[in-house]
Parts: sequence; structure tokens; C-alpha cells
Amino acid sequence: MAVKFSHMLFGAFVLLFVLQPCVIKSLKLDSLQNLEQVQKGGVASGINQVKQYLKTYGYYPHGVKLTLGDRFDHSLESALNTPSGFTVNGVDTVFARALKSWADGSPFKFTKNSNSDIEVAFYSNNHGDYPFYDPVNKVEAYAHSFYPEIGRVHFNTLYTWSTNPTSRQVDLESIDVHKLGHTLGLEHSGLKSAIMYPYIDLGAIKRNLTQVDKDGLKAMYMY
Ligand SMILES: *[C@@H]1O[C@H](CO)[C@@H](O)[C@H](O)[C@H]1NC(C)=O
Repeated sequence: MAVKFSHMLFGAFVLLFVLQPCVIKSLKLDSLQNLEQVQKGGVASGINQVKQYLKTYGYYPHGVKLTLGDRFDHSLESALNTPSGFTVNGVDTVFARALKSWADGSPFKFTKNSNSDIEVAFYSNNHGDYPFYDPVNKVEAYAHSFYPEIGRVHFNTLYTWSTNPTSRQVDLESIDVHKLGHTLGLEHSGLKSAIMYPYIDLGAIKRNLTQVDKDGLKAMYMY
């Protein structure tokens, strides 16, 4: 666990170096050395400072509240887990397109705000609700989400996320559209072309709602 944390911390600092090369200079490096041994749930002086930097530079996903203090908590973990290859704005753009698909296919409207009903974030396997790993089928889920009114959509950092996936990467928008379907209350569809079909291959792109997906929502909300 300690090893895992120092790995994630390293990832976060790489992001700070790359995106904000001048910022790191004003962080006191001696205070950061304490942090290498801290695991999730642990406390170390300097964590509060790291949180504030991550917040200032946009690493906290929308809907995830920043909790100040020197504890390595859930919110800090999600901030450390912005997937490589994406900027925060890049991730936001994909999420906005996925929401637009559902907005275009229903009477619902979605707006972005700091007190939202839907939270999207990237996490590693054990992150406080359900693990992504399914021991029965021995598979790692790409992501998980929940039926209403639990608006959490969590993506698995084990995978490499992309907007233009190779055969080893996962299309972020395709998975987000599917997961948002559950957030809105839809169950799986047996129709292979449907967004709500439970399986999708690595590298595959399936972003557009089908009539079955739209009809499912229509039947559920009776509009
Ligand atoms: C998905 O929808 C977009 C916008 O309506 C359209 O341009 C695109 O061709 C569609 N893709 C597929 C695979 O149908």
C-alpha cells in the first residue's frame, strides 16, 4: 500500500512538472518527503498543501468536494487519478459529449455545477465503494456506476483511456455513455448494438444511443 501511494504521488508530481513547471518550485520539497510513506487514510503534514495545489490547477473532478486537512482521503485519491494522456479539460469535454447524447435522446437537461447529482472520477481498484475486479468472472470492469439516486460514475485507472483508442485502449466516451445510462436508471439491454449492451471490446467505439436505449428511458420515466 505504501508503494502504491508513492507511485500515485509520483504520477501527480509528473503532472505538476509537465503542466505547471513553475509551480513546483514554490512547494517545499522537504515537506513532500514525508508523504512518500503515507497510505490512503493516513495523515502527514504537507498533504493539505498538495490538495490545495491540485485543486488550484483543476485536478479535482467535478462533483468531488475538496476536504482540506492533512489526511490522505478519498477526494485526494480521485484528484491524483486524472488519467494519463488527458488534461482535465479533455476529460470534461468527453463527459459533456456523453451527457449531450442522453440530453439529445430524452427530455432531460444537464448542467455543470459544484453541487451536482452526478460525480465522475477515476479510481484504482479498491476505492471505498465496490472494487472493479469481479472475482467470479475474473475480469476488471472498465468502470462502474449505480442506479438512481447514486450519481457516481467511476472509471478504472488500470485501463488506458482514450478518445481515439488503439486495440489496447478504452474509448472513454463509449464507456461513459453506457455508465450514465445506469445513472439514469437503465438496466442492460440484450441488443448488441445498444449502448446498454453489457460488453464492449477494447478499442471499440460505440457512442450513439439507439432507439432501444431511448425507448428504455421513455418507458421508465413515462414521457
Ligand atoms: C453518431 O452520431 C453522430 C452525430 O449525430 C454522427 O455524426 C455519427 O455518424 C454517428 N456514428 C455512428 C457510428 O452512427
